[in-house]
Amino acid sequence: MRMVDLIEKKRDGHALTKEEIHFIIEGYTKGDIPDYQMSALAMAIFFRGMNEEETAELTMAMVHSGDTIDLSKIEGIKVDKHSTGGVGDTTTLVLGPLVASVGVPVAKMSGRGLGHTGGTIDKLESVPGFHVEINNDEFIELVNKNKIAVVGQSGNLTPADKKLYALRDVTATVNSIPLIASSIMSKKIAAGADAIVLDVKTGAGAFMKDLNDAKALAKAMVDIGNRVGRKTMAIISDMSQPLGYAIGNALEVKEAIDTLRGEGPEDLQELCLVLGSHMVYLAEKASSLEEARHMLEKAMKDGSALQTFKTFLAAQGGDASVVDDPSKLPQAKYVIELEAKEDGYVSEIVADAVGTAAMWLGAGRATKESTIDLAVGLVLRKKVGDAVKKGESLVTIYSNREQIDDVKQKLYENIRISATPVQAPTLIYDKIS
Ligand code: URA
Ligand code: CA
Repeated sequence: MRMVDLIEKKRDGHALTKEEIHFIIEGYTKGDIPDYQMSALAMAIFFRGMNEEETAELTMAMVHSGDTIDLSKIEGIKVDKHSTGGVGDTTTLVLGPLVASVGVPVAKMSGRGLGHTGGTIDKLESVPGFHVEINNDEFIELVNKNKIAVVGQSGNLTPADKKLYALRDVTATVNSIPLIASSIMSKKIAAGADAIVLDVKTGAGAFMKDLNDAKALAKAMVDIGNRVGRKTMAIISDMSQPLGYAIGNALEVKEAIDTLRGEGPEDLQELCLVLGSHMVYLAEKASSLEEARHMLEKAMKDGSALQTFKTFLAAQGGDASVVDDPSKLPQAKYVIELEAKEDGYVSEIVADAVGTAAMWLGAGRATKESTIDLAVGLVLRKKVGDAVKKGESLVTIYSNREQIDDVKQKLYENIRISATPVQAPTLIYDKIS
């Protein structure tokens, strides 16, 4: 087999076979196929697409390009959740303890990464003492005992995806549905998921800004999952404005605690209940989505979700008393209100721009070398559709620097106020299973 022939085949719009796809991914991972040929193929895929069978083969070829995590010693069906980006997305922090509290095993491998705020691990590390340096045996033991544990990424997972994603980034080939879908699904499968719930975001703060693109991506991922024996379901949810109120690490931990208690922001709580019900259902802990939702609502009300969170934090060295006393979380030096300049209705909160403002405060990493300030961030006081009076707070800014004119200006530019009433956006656009 010669790579040049396979590039030509895809360029002319033909489907690649399983053997051809595995040849390409193995060769590229080993370095036998150079970047320039892989770039040409990625561009051919960008224009010609891939059918469902090719996309599933590409996914599994990338899964087998490196290590895979064996979670078979964990009892039960391991359901993983994946959100396609977003701003201030506190769902992972809430969903872990929430579904674990009704018996779904949550074996979470997580990273730090770049972005507006830190990753799940950074956020959890705002709990004093909490750490993810546990070995594999401890990890499995903790999940079996408490139904939840979080460990830092280890092993050489999906090296083909790492290499290809970096290449796509510099060859204008990121935005291809088969390439995105296989990239995301390969990582979930390599990390040991038996079943997968996807939260595909759409709107300004999302990867897929357009609803139809988001649906097509969700459909492609659900199709991959079902073809390779991992039950997969997807939700399409709104990310035109940030989810919940908090954007920042310790601030999101506090928001997660409120939500686990059933006292969180309405949109965050609803999305967690919907995603959580799908997880419980796929884990076969409930026989319908309705039953699953009832179980989760009960766990919020009777305190068991919060108790699971405490047990989980303590098991990994964390000070669980933060749950009852969030003032023990890192606190910012300055708390500054962003006051509305006029009366009206909030018409837009541009999610990605507001995320950038949080990053400027130090809540996230712009580069791998940046350090995160766990205490800082934003708490929205108004969401799209809310009425606002001049002088009322739009956002509370938590900062460790006194001079924040840049942040304030960014927020004023991206929180728009209209004179006429505005409808709040739909939270969940669609479900695909
Ligand atoms: N996220 C991924 O992990 N892969 C992509 O290709 C795009 C977004
Ligand atoms: Ca949030």
